[in-house]
Amino acid sequence: MKTIDPEQYEHIVFFTGAGMSAESGVPTYRGHGGVWSQYRWEEYACQDAFDGNPEKVLKFHELRRAAVLACKPHPGHKVIAKLEKKHPRVTLVTQNIDGMHQRAGSENVIELHGSLWRLRCPYDGISEDIGEKYKSCKCDKCGSWLRPDIIWFGDMLNQGVMSEAIAAIRCCDLFVSIGTSGVVYPAAGFPRFAKENNARCIEINPEANEMSSLYDEAIRDTAGKAMSELFG
Ligand code: APR
Repeated sequence: MKTIDPEQYEHIVFFTGAGMSAESGVPTYRGHGGVWSQYRWEEYACQDAFDGNPEKVLKFHELRRAAVLACKPHPGHKVIAKLEKKHPRVTLVTQNIDGMHQRAGSENVIELHGSLWRLRCPYDGISEDIGEKYKSCKCDKCGSWLRPDIIWFGDMLNQGVMSEAIAAIRCCDLFVSIGTSGVVYPAAGFPRFAKENNARCIEINPEANEMSSLYDEAIRDTAGKAMSELFG
């Protein structure tokens, strides 16, 4: 595999999905062993489920927080965090809600799907909650159930966060997607935006998917190994 000299690029965008965290032991969503093969998202990851049984949904997310805390960032996460510090323009966009990039040292992460580490009151806004167990499941001010600050099935994406991601992707000259099946909107459109700026588009994923043809190059390897070799 040829290495990449980051200095040759003005603006690098990394776009990560569940495969990035899979190597740390966090389960992916789709496919064998994926979260949605064990749990029906209709019961755990949508507003209707929360409205029907908030305690069940919160418990599910609390279990996921504990599972994530038991995992550690891998060399691929660290390669990105290191590059952010030495390259003037690196943007990290993730679909992951697990906070692994931040634990590896990344400081400005655009989290498209929110975070497991925040809870939100429908009336009083967002509260940070970074423990393995929730500090409280009810809002201190109004007593409403707090919901995970995550984009669930059927939720609208946060338009401000989306615009920030798309603006970065539209003006990058190197776009590297790592560990995403690319099937969930808006991931599918991202390599197209990068191509509009003639960016070099690289996919890191052990398996091809229906979006793979949009990339100039595919590295059929795991995230940690591929990232270490590519930017070593
Ligand atoms: N390195 C790189 N890629 C990997 C690795 C690895 N070690 N292991 C698995 N993969 C790849 C798989 O081949 C698959 O293409 O990671 C991808 C994971 O795909 P999904 O489980 O569909 O995850 P993702 O694309 O992030 O899903 C998007 O869907 O359910 C929603 O909100 C959830 O953010 C999630 C979104």
